[in-house]
Amino acid sequence: MDCKRIIFTSLSILLLLPMICNCDFNLVTACEINESERIRIGDTDIHADNCSNDFRKRYACYDPSYGCFISKQQVPGFTVKTGSLGGFDISSTASSDPLAKDPRICAKYCLELPNCMSFVLSKNIHSGRYCFLKNKLITQSTTHTNYLSYNRYAFPDSTCTIGSCTTEPNTPSVSTNPSYNTCKAACNTDSSCKYFTVGMDKCHSQSDCHRNPNVLNKLLCTKSVPALHPPSSTCEKNIANALSDLNNSTCIESKSLPFMSRYPFPGVNKPLSPILLSVYGKNLSCSNGEFNNLLVYIPIEEQFEIKFEGKFKVCKLLFSNLETCQYSCNCNGRHCEGVYIVAFLQNSQLCEISFA
Ligand SMILES: *[C@@H]1O[C@H](CO)[C@@H](O)[C@H](O)[C@H]1NC(C)=O
Ligand SMILES: *[C@@H]1O[C@H](CO)[C@@H](O)[C@H](O)[C@H]1NC(C)=O
Ligand SMILES: *[C@@H]1O[C@H](CO)[C@@H](O)[C@H](O)[C@H]1NC(C)=O
Ligand SMILES: *[C@@H]1O[C@H](CO)[C@@H](O)[C@H](O)[C@H]1NC(C)=O
Ligand SMILES: *[C@@H]1O[C@H](CO)[C@@H](O)[C@H](O)[C@H]1NC(C)=O
Repeated sequence: MDCKRIIFTSLSILLLLPMICNCDFNLVTACEINESERIRIGDTDIHADNCSNDFRKRYACYDPSYGCFISKQQVPGFTVKTGSLGGFDISSTASSDPLAKDPRICAKYCLELPNCMSFVLSKNIHSGRYCFLKNKLITQSTTHTNYLSYNRYAFPDSTCTIGSCTTEPNTPSVSTNPSYNTCKAACNTDSSCKYFTVGMDKCHSQSDCHRNPNVLNKLLCTKSVPALHPPSSTCEKNIANALSDLNNSTCIESKSLPFMSRYPFPGVNKPLSPILLSVYGKNLSCSNGEFNNLLVYIPIEEQFEIKFEGKFKVCKLLFSNLETCQYSCNCNGRHCEGVYIVAFLQNSQLCEISFA
């Protein structure tokens, strides 16, 4: 299929995601979402046990005639389950903000810190707070419906999603204390690794992955950044490397290559502020909204999955000349789940993309 057609089609689809309140500890009402507004997790034939077999392992809502869908308690960049984890607290004055009773606000504080790997939200106030930032993946949580445990999968150096691979892993790397960082490090030392999964008790490195979306207690992450659409093999190889090798002389040039790339959570690990990025190239014409050869945009609404369709907003062009396009992207009060860059390189080259 022609890449350019895909891009225009994608941008014209307006998908309205629901704006749902998610400050609800009641497991029943947190699942009262009209079918048209649900966001599906897994396949339509997912087994009920895989999303909600008991309170401790409630990862999502389940309706036998629909399947599994996210609850009002879920926030982008985190999985959620019932229960709590004692200890591993990060001291943060921000998280004593009374507004952090809302998981979206607590998540925002967590995403500002590189060492925040999870958080626990309490229904009742403890030591002046509802929001407890943790430096550890919550593998086992106590059964307690007054707490919700959130594990982070929002990282800027890998595109992560919920799920696992049906494909055989490379030699299974067992770890008693898995974390995003240890699983990613294991993948980095394996030159054939392209994906890694983070499970509750194991990391797996994969050279290939057929995704199983019905495993809700695992994360599936990519070794390389960004995610490309269409995937790089069908349009151009080594795009990701050329754009992130910090070398202005490795560039992409193609007459037939319009491509979309998605950089995950580029603004995390520092206080929330607009994302600044610079695109370097040759003979660029930086778009400020019109379909020029370089366009940068962000999702308007929360994204719970990696996709190239939806409702988007063009980032603000701060500076441009033939070699540089500088943009500012603002997701209004939340950390952008992704920043998208679309390039049509008829008479130009793309050499480097860097986030400030
Ligand atoms: C769900 O749909 C019903 C009927 O279509 C409507 O009355 C109700 O307000 C909707 N609820 C929500 C939360 O949108
Ligand atoms: C359910 O989860 C298990 C592992 O947790 C997975 O192997 C299986 O494919 C899933 N199946 C369905 C139908 O949900
Ligand atoms: C690439 O070129 C731009 C502008 O010419 C420069 O500002 C930037 O620092 C260069 N980046 C690298 C990694 O050399
Ligand atoms: C940058 O890329 C060029 C062309 O591939 C290569 O010759 C050069 O050594 C690279 N520079 C660095 C600093 O890696
Ligand atoms: C630069 O791009 C313009 C169109 O945007 C094109 O007309 C021109 O030939 C290009 N110049 C070079 C040197 O490729």
